[in-house]
Amino acid sequence: MRVTINQIKEMKQKGEKITMLTAYDYSTARIVDEAGIPLILVGDSLGMVVLGYESTIPVTMSEMLHHTKAVVRGAKQALVVGDMPFMTYHVSVEDALRNAARFIQEAGAQAVKLEGGVTVAEKVKRIVECGIPVMGHIGLTPQSIHQFGGFKIQGKTPEAAVKILEDAKALEQAGAFSIVLETVPAPLATLISQKISIPTIGIGAGIGCDGQVQVINDILGSFADFVPKHAKQYAKLTDIIRSAVTEYDNEVKAGSFPTDKQSFSMDESILAGLK
Ligand code: KIV
Repeated sequence: MRVTINQIKEMKQKGEKITMLTAYDYSTARIVDEAGIPLILVGDSLGMVVLGYESTIPVTMSEMLHHTKAVVRGAKQALVVGDMPFMTYHVSVEDALRNAARFIQEAGAQAVKLEGGVTVAEKVKRIVECGIPVMGHIGLTPQSIHQFGGFKIQGKTPEAAVKILEDAKALEQAGAFSIVLETVPAPLATLISQKISIPTIGIGAGIGCDGQVQVINDILGSFADFVPKHAKQYAKLTDIIRSAVTEYDNEVKAGSFPTDKQSFSMDESILAGLK
């Protein structure tokens, strides 16, 4: 049985920590799903860690739908959340509804995520009213990176902290089933988690959140461009992949790959006939 938003909300009530990881392809989604991770986010971080863009801003609906479909095929238990790209929910409520629906109807996701608090609350409400679960995302919202002037911690001043708390409350009020808190001071994230009834999922927001999310490439050490401060590398896949690729290259050059084990034989008489 697939995880539901009610189960995710119940986890907060029971004090059970919620784990979320990103995935962008079928094979990775299968591994994450089989590990029992209840929430898989097809993040627009896709743009940076898979597609090589400098930010999440160039990511399109068709790129997100393509990868969400692959993840949905790999995830049998986890609730799959599709990340709505930049400018696909900003222009109008109609736009937001149509694009959110595509994640559910075309790609098979069970929920969508979008960035912003008070300013997107009306859209969140309308999407939820259409039967589409919404995960909010506040604090450092990477689609607004030019507005912030870089990947900077948010909520350090009294005004900024109040604004983030208000954003969280607006999303809760609008019917979001959970909220990502990105790069905010840990004590502020703890306070927000205590003040709202829906789960907070932190990334660079400390231990007081109801759950944690990480970009899978960051925890596996497979994205070499940079390691964010909030990420812990549980593996160094870049090193493992580099050494495997080099060994393969050496063996091909040396003529020691493939061996009989990786080759296919045929009837000698057919071969003789060809000669
Ligand atoms: O795109 C993404 O991967 C995200 C997470 C960092 C929360 O939004």
